[in-house]
Formats: sequence, structure tokens, C-alpha cells
Amino acid sequence: MGLKLKNPIIAGSSGLTNSLKDIKELEENGAGAVVLKSLFEEEIRIELEKDLQKMSKESFLYPETLDFYDTYDVEDTLTSYLKLIRDCKLETSFPIIASINCVTASKWPYYASTLQDAGADGLELNVFIMPSNLSASAEENEKLYFDLVDEVKKQVSIPIALKISYYSSNLASLIHRISTTGIAGIVMFNRFYSPDIDIDKLELLSTNVLSDPEEITMPLRWIGIMAKRVECDLAASTGIHDGKAAIKMLLAGATAVQVASTLYRNGKQQIGRMLDDVDHWMEQKGFKTINDFRGKMSHTEADDPAAYFRMQFMKHFAGVGMNEE
Ligand SMILES: Cc1cc2nc3c(=O)[nH]c(=O)nc-3n(C[C@H](O)[C@H](O)[C@H](O)COP(=O)(O)O)c2cc1C
Repeated sequence: MGLKLKNPIIAGSSGLTNSLKDIKELEENGAGAVVLKSLFEEEIRIELEKDLQKMSKESFLYPETLDFYDTYDVEDTLTSYLKLIRDCKLETSFPIIASINCVTASKWPYYASTLQDAGADGLELNVFIMPSNLSASAEENEKLYFDLVDEVKKQVSIPIALKISYYSSNLASLIHRISTTGIAGIVMFNRFYSPDIDIDKLELLSTNVLSDPEEITMPLRWIGIMAKRVECDLAASTGIHDGKAAIKMLLAGATAVQVASTLYRNGKQQIGRMLDDVDHWMEQKGFKTINDFRGKMSHTEADDPAAYFRMQFMKHFAGVGMNEE
């Protein structure tokens, strides 16, 4: 994104990037940068709505959103967010990336300049698209990414990253097209809460708040496929829990990696352990800088690039058991 990081491990947006105390601890533990907890578009819109209501009776907010925000003071949230950025800039020396969770590209983007004015070094747009509308085409769903970049770019000069979802009928082409819009980075991928069902209470639940290390395979595949074929940086997110996982992502071609769940599971000190493991591995392999190995195992550079596309286990599907391999 054009930002100078002392190392490529970024503390991703989470409840641990929401206070000056936590953010200072993340820097002390070695994080190369931090993405602040997301501000929600609705929080900005409701504040804007209040201003507009002074001038007009027209409302563009959904009643349920208004109900939700009746319960707390949105103005406080926005003011605290700007204060957090300013405090971080005064009391830390690593890049501070603000984050907005967006579901539309209308009306709220003007606010992005306020985050820039408060001192944010970059802006990550966490875009929520769940393509579940039966009558919307893929193009209609994906238009949001492009509209957002257009609108937010009009407001800020700091680098913008888009944190995207893997739900797309044409992921490689979509990622490539997004990379040509003039944004500085793409974060792959957003991770959603998953639904679950309590079969005793017959209730729907949200589950899997924290990721497991096995979840690395999905972003690893796509970082490997897209690295060196896009016109912006790629940051990997989801399932990166230790130094080995960070090394894999860098080998696949990630510019940087983001971590969240591992900080909840293993504490902020995990960043230091990850950095030690990366250093140790680099020493063993004789790599002096990250550029010596970044992308070495990407689809474009690997000896066996087909591995990124292989989806079916021919032997297993042909009835040969794992023990016989
Ligand atoms: C408790 C919690 C809160 C999160 N809040 C945000 C958020 O506000 N904005 C965002 O873009 N991602 C948020 N995330 C998602 C993480 O940034 C990250 O993309 C996701 O957890 C996958 O990475 P991981 O496997 O390292 O956890 C949150 C994750 C957790 C666990």
C-alpha cells in the first residue's frame, strides 16, 4: 500500500485493535502495522441522517437500524474513533489503518476524509456482500466494490485497501479487475460468522467467531493463484496462526499477513513468536530479505503450479485409501 512496515505481520481488525492500550501492546509485541476495529457504515449514516433531518424530513435509514442505534450514542462512537486515530498517531510509530465496514457506496463516503484528517495512514474497506439475492446478477452484486472505490477515492488521498469476500462466481477475474481500480491493496479474505443450529432449542446460532489454523488453505490457494498477476498489494487474512503459516503466505506471494484469532487464542506475544520463527526459517534457508522468497511458491513461479488448481483427489475418488499412499 506504499506504507513502510518494519515487518509484514499486521494486527488485523478485531476487538483487540479498538483501544490505545491494546494497540500500543500490539506494537510492543512487534506488529508491523494495525488495522483498527471497523467503524460501521450505519454509524456514519445515522450521524449524517441526524444532520440531514435538521434540513429535511426525508429519511434514508431503515427503521431497524434506527432502533438499534437508539440504544447508544453514535456521535460518541465517531468522536472516539477519531480520537483513537489521533492518540495512536501521537503514541505509536507504526502505520495506523482505519477500517470501515460497508454495505453501500452511497452518502457515507464523504466521512472517509475525516479519518484521513485525523491522521490515518491508510483505509481498509471491509465490504460485506452476501450474494443471496435470487434476482441479482453477479455483476449487480460485485458493482458495490467498484462504486465504493470510485466514491471513496474522491474523498481521500491515503492508500485504500478492499477487504473482500471469496463469494464470487468469477473470483480471479474479479480480484484482477478490482486491482486495476487504483486501490493500493486487497485483503483476502473477509471471514464471516457462520450459522449453526441448536437442535435442542431449535434455534439458529452464530458460531465460529475465531478461526482455526486449517482455514488457511482457502486464502493460501487464492493468494498463490493471484500473486504477481494483480496491480496492487495482496494481504492474506484468515487462519494465519503461527510463523509457519505466515511463511506459507509470503511464499505464496502475499505482501503482508493479517492476524486476529491467534491473538485471542495465544495472546499478543504470538506476534513476537511468529517473527522469531520467520527469522529462524530465513536464516536456515539463507534468505536475507523477504523479497528473496516472496512469491517463490506462487502459481506463476512454482515448479508445480497445477497444484493450485487441483480440486479432486483422483486416487481417493478411485477408491484407494489414504493408508495405501
Ligand atoms: C472478535 C473479532 C472481531 C472482528 N472485527 C472485525 C472488524 O470490525 N472488521 C473487520 O474487517 N474484520 C473483523 N474481524 C475479522 C478479522 O479481521 C479477520 O479478517 C478474521 O478473523 C480472519 O482472520 P483470523 O483467522 O486471523 O482471525 C474480527 C474478527 C474477530 C475474531
